[in-house]
Amino acid sequence: MEKLVSLCKRRGFIFQSSEIYGGLNGFWDYGPLGVELKNNLRDLWWESMVRNPPPGPDGDELQIVGLDCSIISHPRVWEASGHVGGFNDPMQTCRQCKKLFRADHVWEGLQESEWVKALRTEFPGVTADFLRPRLPDVIRWFESRGKKLAKGLAIVRNPTALKPRVEAEVAKRTEPRLADFLTLIGTEPGQRAQLPCPECGGDLTEPRQFNLMFETYVGAVRTEDDKAYLRPETAQGMFYNFKNVLDSTRVKIPFGICQVGRSFRNEVTPRNYIFRSREFEQMELEFFVHPSEADKWYQYWRETRYQWWCDLGLAGKNLRLRDHDQDELAHYAKDSGGCCDVEYAFPFAGEKGFTELEGIAYRSNYDLTQHGKVSGVNLDYFDQEKNERYVPHVIEPAAGLTRGLLAVLCEAYTVDESRPSPELMRFHPRLAPIKCGVFPLVNKEGMPEIAEQLYRDIRKQVGPAQYDAKQSIGKRYARMDEAGTPFCVTVDGQTVDEQTVTVRDRDTGNQIRIAIAQVIDYLKERV
Ligand code: GAP
Repeated sequence: MEKLVSLCKRRGFIFQSSEIYGGLNGFWDYGPLGVELKNNLRDLWWESMVRNPPPGPDGDELQIVGLDCSIISHPRVWEASGHVGGFNDPMQTCRQCKKLFRADHVWEGLQESEWVKALRTEFPGVTADFLRPRLPDVIRWFESRGKKLAKGLAIVRNPTALKPRVEAEVAKRTEPRLADFLTLIGTEPGQRAQLPCPECGGDLTEPRQFNLMFETYVGAVRTEDDKAYLRPETAQGMFYNFKNVLDSTRVKIPFGICQVGRSFRNEVTPRNYIFRSREFEQMELEFFVHPSEADKWYQYWRETRYQWWCDLGLAGKNLRLRDHDQDELAHYAKDSGGCCDVEYAFPFAGEKGFTELEGIAYRSNYDLTQHGKVSGVNLDYFDQEKNERYVPHVIEPAAGLTRGLLAVLCEAYTVDESRPSPELMRFHPRLAPIKCGVFPLVNKEGMPEIAEQLYRDIRKQVGPAQYDAKQSIGKRYARMDEAGTPFCVTVDGQTVDEQTVTVRDRDTGNQIRIAIAQVIDYLKERV
């Protein structure tokens, strides 16, 4: 991840937001290459969901329309959706260093924590039985190095009380695990046993519920009545516009509404680069169906969405589809067909190896029923042909655009030491921010003129291109490899005589010679 993050900054994919002011945790800016890559991913999704969706499970054309809703909506939307009452994460504060943690992320945080890493490096196998004979050394470590790295830890603050207790407990335990050991050295006598703070080892408060929605005020007065929220998901706009879409278009059930846009969550612990940020982008579909057909459509979207990510080049050992366990199911999916996630093997995925990229949920008729109740507007659907009235059920494939971008970046990042410049980004040509680099071999003998004309033609007819006449040809190829440009066209001495150029393939490094007149078709076919 460190190498990828560094390449992304160096090449202008992603910058920390307001970096010159020290940055703002959980907020990111997309640079010149990043914005192109993100827009390409977004456009591919829109194309394959709204403009040209695949055929449905029975081979029928799908009806899917788009929306672009405001980020701030009536606050009652979020009462109806359950976000005001229930969009909470349990949060713990460290009594010593005052840092905040999501209660369910403390263990993950400890595994990445400086002081735990140092402890494990010095005492590998600190989890195992071998701890017993080395316990005196481990305790001494807390009196020296640990004192500096984890000054909040109970055993550091209160060694007189903790040392005999830890010795006694370690002697008793038959299968000591790291979590048990950390709990042991992090809990003062008489306190409830719990994991210590990943930052300083201090003790954490009881978990408190923390609502993740960003609040703001609409208008000049700032009373409770003027309070509004930045949307935490794009989904609700599609539910409260259900009737508008029905009344203004000719769609009939089954049909879908799509939206791409920004969402905001005041995450307790934004982390892992753009994976969990406080401002991010989602690509969501709400697909409305007759209750009796919900299972069929759930299966359909489950497979279709998984395949979509495969087709982008994420297929193989890094991608999987995982059904939620019963205890993971969201409140609206408890009594229905279920939920699954398309998961990607992000490098920071930890013990599980994979983590969520997109969720596909069968939401039953929860949202339309809630908005019907709270707004007082009837959101039933009337099927004229069958003379049947019902509240449609919903299948929701909800993907992260920015999280998807991170998966694409991770998948593309390649180090090949056999190449003159080992780092390259192997983007699918359709996603690549720059489609073609165009170089005159030297800046004379008619080469720049031909290259400039070719560059203009490629930009107009194929897509973004980059003209580069500076430094050696090897350095120019390397720059394009890091930007993930799939093709480079070089105008050389032979071009002037024969009207041919070389085209270099990013992934193989191989070059072929083709006629200038063929370049546009060659690139179009591959992009
Ligand atoms: N409408 C359902 C919904 O929003 P979700 O699982 O909370 O479901 C859907 O979010 C997708 O949005 C996730 O799979 C993830 O890709 C993305 N996402 C959610 N929270 C995010 C965050 N804090 N930062 C980046 N992406 C996020």
